[in-house]
Amino acid sequence: MDCQEIQVLELVTFYPWFRQRPYGRFHFRVCRTLPCALGGAGKTFAALEKLLGVKGDPHHGALVSEDGRFSLEYAECLASCGTAPVILCNDDFHEKVNEARATELVAACK
Ligand code: FES
Repeated sequence: MDCQEIQVLELVTFYPWFRQRPYGRFHFRVCRTLPCALGGAGKTFAALEKLLGVKGDPHHGALVSEDGRFSLEYAECLASCGTAPVILCNDDFHEKVNEARATELVAACK
C-alpha cells in the first residue's frame, strides 16, 4: 500500500470503529467526555475493570479479558450528557451508571 506502519496506526487509532484486536462478546464503552467525567465516569470505568477482569492502558485501545468474553474501552460523548455517566454494553445504552449499576449490568451478561 506504499505507506508506513505509523500511518496505519494513526488511522486505526483515530476512528473508533477500527479495532486493534477483537472485542469481547460483551463490549463495554464508557463515555469519558467532560460531563460524564465530572459525573463519575472514571469510577465507573475502574469498577468495570475489576468486574470484567481486564487490565492495561485504556489509552491504547480496548482492554480484553483473558477468556475473550469481555472488553472495555473509553468512548467520546454518547449524546446523553445530562444523565452522566453513560455507557454502552454492545448496542444497549445505559445512563447514570455508578458502581452498583455496573455490577448489575455485568451480572446480566453471565
Ligand atoms: S459527555 Fe457523556 S454522553 Fe455526553
